[in-house]
Formats: sequence, C-alpha cells, structure tokens
Amino acid sequence: MKFSTCLVTLTTAWGTAAQNPHLEEGKWKAPGANDFRGPCPMMNTLANHGYIPRDGRNITRPNIISGLAAGLNFKEPLASLMFDMAIVANPEPNATYFTLDHLNQHNVLEHDASLSRTDAYFGSNHIFNATIYEKSKAYWTEPTITAQMLANSKLARQVESRAFNPTYRFTADTENFSLGEIAAPIIAFGDMALGEVNRTLVDYFFVNERLPAELGWHKKDVAIGIEDILKVSDIIKAATSLITGPDQSNPGNKRDLHAGMHT
Ligand code: HEM
Ligand SMILES: *[C@@H]1O[C@H](CO)[C@@H](O)[C@H](O)[C@H]1NC(C)=O
Ligand SMILES: *[C@@H]1O[C@H](CO)[C@@H](O)[C@H](O)[C@H]1NC(C)=O
Ligand SMILES: *[C@@H]1O[C@H](CO)[C@@H](O)[C@H](O)[C@H]1NC(C)=O
Ligand SMILES: *[C@@H]1O[C@H](CO)[C@@H](O)[C@H](O)[C@H]1NC(C)=O
Ligand SMILES: *[C@@H]1O[C@H](CO)[C@@H](O)[C@H](O)[C@H]1NC(C)=O
Repeated sequence: MKFSTCLVTLTTAWGTAAQNPHLEEGKWKAPGANDFRGPCPMMNTLANHGYIPRDGRNITRPNIISGLAAGLNFKEPLASLMFDMAIVANPEPNATYFTLDHLNQHNVLEHDASLSRTDAYFGSNHIFNATIYEKSKAYWTEPTITAQMLANSKLARQVESRAFNPTYRFTADTENFSLGEIAAPIIAFGDMALGEVNRTLVDYFFVNERLPAELGWHKKDVAIGIEDILKVSDIIKAATSLITGPDQSNPGNKRDLHAGMHT
C-alpha cells in the first residue's frame, strides 16, 4: 500500500524504529498483564501483532479497517460492517470505539457453545480453554479440515451445552454470528471455494493466537469482501444438516469427496 511505503520513507528520514511504533506493527508479541484480550481468537491475534492496538483498548473503525486489511486483506466495506456489528459491545451511547474487554460480556456478542472457550456458566467465557478446544478438535479428523468437520464441531459443542448447561442460550442471531465464526478459519487460512483449510494452520492460530506466517501462510492475494464471507457461511450452514442422501455414507468427512456436500 502507498500509505505504508510512505511511512517507511518518513521513518528512514526522520528516526529510528524505537521512535516509530508503526515499524513494530506486524511483529507478534505476547500480551502484557494489563492488555485486554477477549473471546475472539482473531481480534486477540491482530492485537498480538499490533495490527489493532496491542493493549486491546480504544479500537476504532479506522483501526478495524486498517487492521483487517493489514492482517488478512479484508476490504474496507467488510471491515466497516464488522465494526458496526461489534460496536454494540460498548455500552456507552454513540460509542466510537470498543475494547477487547467489552467483547467478554456474555450474551451480547459472546455466546455459549464456542469452539475454544467454555460457557460462561462453567468458567471463563473468553480465555482459551484447552479442554474445550480438544473436544472441538476431535472432530477435525483429517489433516485438511472440511466444512463438514467444522460444522460437526459446532454441532457437538451446542449439544454438549444444551445437555449440561442449564443457562444454554443460542438465538437465531447467535446462529448467524456463529456461522461466520465457524467459517472464519476457512476465510483467513483456507480455500474459500473448496470450503476447506489446513488443520496445522488452524491449530497454530487457536493455540498461539498468532498468524501462522512461520508455517508458510500469508494473507490472501485477492482482497476478501462481504460476498466471500456470506458464501463460506452458507457452505457451513449447509454442512450443519445431519441429513444425508440415500446412498451416501459421509462425503463431507472425506476431503476428495467434499464436493458432494455443496449440492
Ligand atoms: C470487528 C471484528 C471482530 C469482532 C468484534 C469479533 C468478535 C468476536 C466475538 C465476540 C467472538 C466470541 C463468540 C463466542 O462466544 O464464541 C468471536 C469469535 C470468533 N471469531 Fe471473531 N470477531 C471479529 C473478527 C473476526 C475475524 C476477522 C475472524 C477471522 C477471520 C474471527 C474469528 C473468530 C472465530 C474463529 C471465533 C470463534 C471462537 C470459538 O468458537 O472459540 N473474528 N469473535
Ligand atoms: C481509551 O479508552 C478509555 C476507556 O477504555 C477512555 O477512558 C479513554 O479516554 C480512551 N482514550 C482515547 C485516546 O480515546
Ligand atoms: C446519540 O446520537 C443520536 C443520533 O445522532 C443523538 O440523537 C443522541 O443525542 C446521541 N446521544 C448521546 C448520548 O450523545
Ligand atoms: C475450561 O472448561 C472446563 C469445562 O467446562 C471447565 O471445567 C474449566 O473450569 C474451564 N477453565 C477455565 C479456566 O475456565
Ligand atoms: C445474518 O447476518 C447478515 C450480515 O452478516 C445479515 O445480512 C443477515 O440479514 C442476517 N440474517 C439473519 C437471519 O439475521
Ligand atoms: C499444512 O501446512 C503445513 C505447514 O505449512 C504443511 O507442513 C502441511 O503439509 C500442510 N498439510 C496439508 C494437508 O496440506
């Protein structure tokens, strides 16, 4: 981008890396004790890389637009829409920013049956929970995760929550939000047309809250728009159906047969 080229030029002329925090952007650092983090592994990741404020505070629309572009090559209208959906998390009227701590409020955006966090009823609804995550991961049965495997882990988490959490809540709006979250690993790290993603990359991301660049991943060359998100969410939605055709065993759980699921 022109803007970053310009920054580099300015910095070379005027100062050292230490004086310019922008040069630190993109470098992964573990969060400090006073930094806010939340239930979204990607918001946490982007903060850990400095693509959005590292302290997890004062996250504005421009922060989201530049952060999602720099980290994931999201187009501006998509990032702006995501900001509009997120801003309800700040309880102040007409808020212009949110913090990652705001995202932790239960049943605002944060919801039950997450893949990598336990329900608020059982413990922390926002800290990565290895026990829960291992349960989800058990459904990612091949080195390439299909949409159906992701859908299976979502369904399993919902059944578990509905069975054992007396406060289980999962509305139609939650479902809408959730389908986007379940699609997210494919959008960020996978093949959006095939609806599948390398399990090693997804695992690295969830466990480290870090972009899997050191595993060879890089952000998509073609910018991601709203239409892409809706398409992948629809693939996930279709894959949540538990009904098969009469003479199919389980196409979606085998990568080379996954196309059967799209019909
Ligand atoms: C403005 C931007 C975003 C906001 C405010 C946001 C917020 C959230 C929130 C509140 C949750 C918790 C839902 C739950 O209880 O499970 C969540 C989950 C999630 N988000 Fe984000 N998110 C954003 C962007 C993204 C992006 C760009 C990605 C990746 C492409 C992403 C990936 C995920 C995933 C995979 C989950 C599910 C985690 C789990 O089930 O354990 N998010 N997000
Ligand atoms: C950042 O957010 C805090 C609340 O978390 C607020 O008190 C402060 O004024 C904000 N700072 C700026 C520069 O907007
Ligand atoms: C918020 O915005 C609305 C519409 O622009 C305005 O009517 C209202 O007074 C604002 N509220 C506050 C607390 O600023
Ligand atoms: C992780 O999830 C399990 C199962 O719900 C729960 O017992 C445990 O307390 C959770 N850990 C934290 C830190 O919330
Ligand atoms: C789901 O969310 C999308 C935006 O992400 C919105 O366009 C659509 O109307 C929502 N659908 C329902 C049923 O709420
Ligand atoms: C997934 O990515 C890892 C790390 O780049 C690579 O070693 C592995 O071969 C990939 N697996 C598949 C199934 O493509």
